[in-house]
Amino acid sequence: MNRTENRTSARLAGIAPSATLAVDSKAKAMKAAGENVIGFGAGEPDFATPQHIVDAATAACADPKNHKYSPAGGLPELKQAIADKTERDSGFACEPSQVLVTNGGKHAVYTAFAALCDPGDEVILPAPYWTTYPEAITLAGGVPVVIDTDAESGFQVTVDQLDAALTDKTKVLLFVSPDNPSGAVYPAEAVRAIGEWAVANGVWVITDEIYEHLTYGNHEFSSMPVVVPDIADRCLIVNGVAKTYAMTGWRVGWMIGPQDVVKAASNFQSHATSNVCNVAQRAAIAAVSGPLDDVAMMRAAFARRAGVMHSMLNAIDGVVCPEPQGAFYCYPDLTGLLGREIRCGGGTKTATTTIELADLILEEAKVAFVPGEAFGLPGYGRFSFALGDDDLSEGIRRIADLVAT
Ligand SMILES: Cc1ncc(COP(=O)(O)O)c(C=O)c1O
Repeated sequence: MNRTENRTSARLAGIAPSATLAVDSKAKAMKAAGENVIGFGAGEPDFATPQHIVDAATAACADPKNHKYSPAGGLPELKQAIADKTERDSGFACEPSQVLVTNGGKHAVYTAFAALCDPGDEVILPAPYWTTYPEAITLAGGVPVVIDTDAESGFQVTVDQLDAALTDKTKVLLFVSPDNPSGAVYPAEAVRAIGEWAVANGVWVITDEIYEHLTYGNHEFSSMPVVVPDIADRCLIVNGVAKTYAMTGWRVGWMIGPQDVVKAASNFQSHATSNVCNVAQRAAIAAVSGPLDDVAMMRAAFARRAGVMHSMLNAIDGVVCPEPQGAFYCYPDLTGLLGREIRCGGGTKTATTTIELADLILEEAKVAFVPGEAFGLPGYGRFSFALGDDDLSEGIRRIADLVAT
């Protein structure tokens, strides 16, 4: 028999590792080796999970009913709490049967594409995009159709651009506001225009609402199926506890959608993962049904840091940073630093791409950020401001000193 062996399937061999996690782990490895590294790479609040949530998890550990398998689609109490919280926070009313609890928002993203895409289905994906979306689309057999946005349009896709990307294979539009990495928050009129475009063209929308509580200044989050109720039957909402409640490590997210799609996705999950860890689900119940005081405190800190980072980055010659409107990222244009001779040790170094610049800055200034290549829009960099005030100022100062002409 003459068989060539592909050790991994083509499907998995084509997956790129998560660039944001890669930068973070390189920075963490340097830190572990004793280097004084400041990391702007991770999209992770620096706060501890609020105590009442941790207490709920501690109690859940001691309760034997949590030691056993539970329904694959999520604890009924958590599905109810998510439905209640969604109506409270975004105004979208749904039944618990429309909720699927997943292993984090990332898993909900993957499940949403798996639930909707057949091979060859096109998914419109505005860039810059969160690095996981194209991989999740491709894994599900879909084809990402990327639309570039820029700082001039506030990194917001327009209906004209959507029209130009529409084909008879278009199945889904990925929509996210507040956005990772650009920090853009679409105003309600723009959400309405895009939602109405989707309804008119029979396109599904996957709307990622994971940063719903993190908006700054006069920018406000609007949920697409609330602004455009007609899209609700072709809309999947993705959300989770990670960003709002400083619970990145707990791994609880969810997908909300029409009952038939949620049922199919729940069947899929029953074979792929079974239930999400019961202790983490009990913690999530405390999070989503508890007060929003801690969230308000964290948002105030992020708003303050957004202002500091935005003005410090703009003060660097060669850096142009739009004001972040939401999430916890600045996404400055760094093209003014490319091709510049940067003094290092005795000599100089030059970066011609933002990947090279990120490497150079990590090596020489011990500061990590994620280059725009990871988000489909080179020339920019993503700087998370979800870290302590002192580290934030020190990290940007180090970059300013390094690139000073
Ligand atoms: C836009 C967006 N969606 C979803 C997620 C998933 O978050 P998690 O899987 O930690 O719940 C992230 C995390 O970085 C994100 O930035």
